[in-house]
Amino acid sequence: MAEIRNLMNFISSSKKLYICVNQFKPMKQLIEIVKILFAYLIRPHLWPELFRKIYKNIFQRSSATKGKVLAENWCAEKAVSQQFAIEQLAENKEFEKIEDRYSDIFKKAKEIEQNTPVKMGGAGALDLIYYLCEYTQAENALETGVAYGWSSLAALLSISKRNGMLYSSDMPYLGADNDAFVGCVVPENLRKNWKLFRYADRESLPKIFKEQNEFDFIHYDSDKTYNGRMWAYPILWKKLKTGGCFMSDDISDNSAFMDYCIQNNFEPLIVGFDGKYAGVIFKK
Ligand SMILES: C[S@@+](CC[C@H](N)C(=O)[O-])C[C@H]1O[C@@H](n2cnc3c(N)ncnc32)[C@H](O)[C@@H]1O
Repeated sequence: MAEIRNLMNFISSSKKLYICVNQFKPMKQLIEIVKILFAYLIRPHLWPELFRKIYKNIFQRSSATKGKVLAENWCAEKAVSQQFAIEQLAENKEFEKIEDRYSDIFKKAKEIEQNTPVKMGGAGALDLIYYLCEYTQAENALETGVAYGWSSLAALLSISKRNGMLYSSDMPYLGADNDAFVGCVVPENLRKNWKLFRYADRESLPKIFKEQNEFDFIHYDSDKTYNGRMWAYPILWKKLKTGGCFMSDDISDNSAFMDYCIQNNFEPLIVGFDGKYAGVIFKK
């Protein structure tokens, strides 16, 4: 009898718990939305992006994953490994990982990342970025999306050899208050070759193009939605020098990169790493 009573009590308390958790879920979401809204409001330079985000959330809700399955199959069919791609570029010379070549710099950068109080987007295909800058002998490069600055670091390690310049566009993660830590893994001695524009791409890119109009290497790693990519790709491609190369990260999130290549008859190099894909197009 006591067991049955205990069981009944347990069922009724789990039901209460279930109702309780489900009542809190929308509340938590609401708090998150208010936090993000407030973060936008105190940063007037990001207001244009706020209006675009509201529009996207109402009218383009499926933009993040549009054509994902098709894109995944397309990437899987074409993909080669990072090592294979780099060895082809370097005419079969065995490549050395940049983490080994610049081990002291990477050791310090990892410590900085670990001591950073906010979480941001992780590193992409860093060896590929470095060797593409080497292959194109990049003097002027552009990237969208910085976060901790791992891709900036990889590009700068090559570009700084030619005293070139990396132009980066990044808006902070709103609600995470990470402004002070964007690009934190880039060491002081490389910063003279780096200009960081802290706006959404649609505001940063025109500002960057006023300073530099042609680039040897361009890396896209910011707004990953289908519409975001389809807006940026043709603009960036136009600014790429002949002989230069364009790289985009996480290209199987949706079919934007695939569609862009098919529409323009591009034969891209697809590189698989960490269960994701990066796409590279060379401008002949
Ligand atoms: C994946 S992280 C970049 C990682 C970096 N490229 C690396 O490999 O180390 C993406 C970054 O892009 C920023 N971002 C997202 N949408 C953006 C936009 N529309 N304009 C500018 N930056 C944006 C995010 O806040 C974040 O800092």
